[in-house]
Amino acid sequence: MANPLDFPPLGPAFGLPDAWSSDTLQFARATHADVPVMRALFNSNARLADVDPSFGEWPSEVYDELVAQQNEGREATYPLGVRLIRRGDGSAIGYCHYRFNFPNDGMFTIAMFVLGFDFQGQHHGREALGSLVAQARRDPRIHSACAEVYVTNDGALSFWFRQGFDRIMRKRSTEDHGRTFRSMMLCRNLRDDQ
Ligand SMILES: CC(C)(COP(=O)(O)OP(=O)(O)OC[C@H]1O[C@@H](n2cnc3c(N)ncnc32)[C@H](O)[C@@H]1OP(=O)(O)O)[C@@H](O)C(=O)NCCC(=O)NCCS
Repeated sequence: MANPLDFPPLGPAFGLPDAWSSDTLQFARATHADVPVMRALFNSNARLADVDPSFGEWPSEVYDELVAQQNEGREATYPLGVRLIRRGDGSAIGYCHYRFNFPNDGMFTIAMFVLGFDFQGQHHGREALGSLVAQARRDPRIHSACAEVYVTNDGALSFWFRQGFDRIMRKRSTEDHGRTFRSMMLCRNLRDDQ
């Protein structure tokens, strides 16, 4: 019988449900039709480009490619998923994308987690991240969740720390337009309370 902690997995493929809900939010697998709203939500944070080089302006093709790269159900070990986050009234407020078993087996990396500027500071982020992590944690093979955060993105740093991502796994420097940006891979242990 497959041991649920084995790598490479002998059990079910890694992946999150296509859709689920939390108290006030809904999550759904992003489609190409969602690309304009994803791009608008992301670009509403353009002011962050000065402190976080992820927030440059990207053409639609970059989002299309990301949506097309989703491979849950097709790639057994390292699936990548993108989920659009909506409020109960149906308005899209943000999105996230993630990869299983990256950078190491048993880790769930949140590669982007973003809310539109108008939807920030209302505890939607806390609820959405809590729900995303709760879904990943249902798989007993996943022991940690991680996110890469630029140290100059003060708001994001406070947010991730407040959500329990307080273990620094590694530090990195990136060159962007002649500037050096430092980032940290922050992790949260998902098995502490078991
Ligand atoms: C970071 C982000 C996801 C947080 O979501 P949010 O809905 O604004 O945050 P919440 O209202 O749920 O706040 C949760 C906690 O984080 C703290 N926090 C959130 N944003 C903060 C900020 N800019 N400065 C300081 N603390 C902040 C809050 O004080 C809150 O603490 P509390 O639980 O004690 O009240 C959202 O603001 C965002 O998308 N920002 C721009 C994109 C970004 O930087 N993404 C992260 C890339 S690594």
